Amino acid sequence: MEEAQTWHYGLIARYWAEFNDDFRPHEIPYFQRRIEVGGGPALDVGCGTGRLLLPYLRAGLDVDGCDVSADMVTLCREKAEREGLTPRLWVQPMHELSPPRRYKTVYVCGAFGLGSTRAQDRASLRLFYGALERDGTLFVDIEVPYADEPVWRYWPQKERAGLPEHARPPSRRQRASDGTEYALSARIVDLDPLEQRLTYEMQAERWRDDELVEQERRTLNINLYFKNELELLLERAGFEDVVVEGDHNGAPATPEDAFITFAATRRG
Ligand SMILES: C[S@@+](CC[C@H](N)C(=O)[O-])C[C@H]1O[C@@H](n2cnc3c(N)ncnc32)[C@H](O)[C@@H]1O
Repeated sequence: MEEAQTWHYGLIARYWAEFNDDFRPHEIPYFQRRIEVGGGPALDVGCGTGRLLLPYLRAGLDVDGCDVSADMVTLCREKAEREGLTPRLWVQPMHELSPPRRYKTVYVCGAFGLGSTRAQDRASLRLFYGALERDGTLFVDIEVPYADEPVWRYWPQKERAGLPEHARPPSRRQRASDGTEYALSARIVDLDPLEQRLTYEMQAERWRDDELVEQERRTLNINLYFKNELELLLERAGFEDVVVEGDHNGAPATPEDAFITFAATRRG
């Protein structure tokens, strides 16, 4: 199978571990509540460096994690171990998911459709179903394709002619705990509206005392999904009672929501 094309390696993985614990903080209680209500054990698919997983372990929840990026998983494990936590973590693309046990709750936050083909995404949904216990629930979120204005404006052919965007050197540097500074700059390289596929490129830099010490360029492919399409795919994968909520707020989704979450239950 094709390798996942995601940018969560090397410098970008270290940037995530260092700076992203406070990113979109309302997502953390949202999924936590769903694990508490639905029950454990839970699986965090695309767990990254543990932005959600680590608070849940601290809260005493039984949560495993997996991710395609060995760099993200290593950083997640290191963070956990610094707190005396020993989560079960493994490296695996979600379309090859083969967990060591079944779960009452499987959740995927900010990771579905990343670095994969659409056929792989359909395979992932079937594997999430297989990973659940009977009456267990999958929670998967997406950013809707029209939410990000700089991307949405490239859907018409005339605007797309302006792609790829020019590469801009990263401007803002952020100081890490070791005193070095990280800087990132992303650009849109391609948007295929027929395939609903977006390609970004990230330039990442690390500076020490005003000297550039590391530099990387990485690509991220994202499959874009609309609400009705993903609902149908969940149903095709065998899920029932599919509910679509707004931006990690527990309310029914509205056209104003940039992110939406699907709750889908395995009944069989
Ligand atoms: C935006 S980060 C989100 C990480 C974490 N879920 C969070 O919310 O902090 C996306 C994560 O998905 C992982 N990922 C991307 N494509 C994947 C795939 N096809 N299978 C499994 N993990 C994937 C990346 O390595 C990265 O850790």
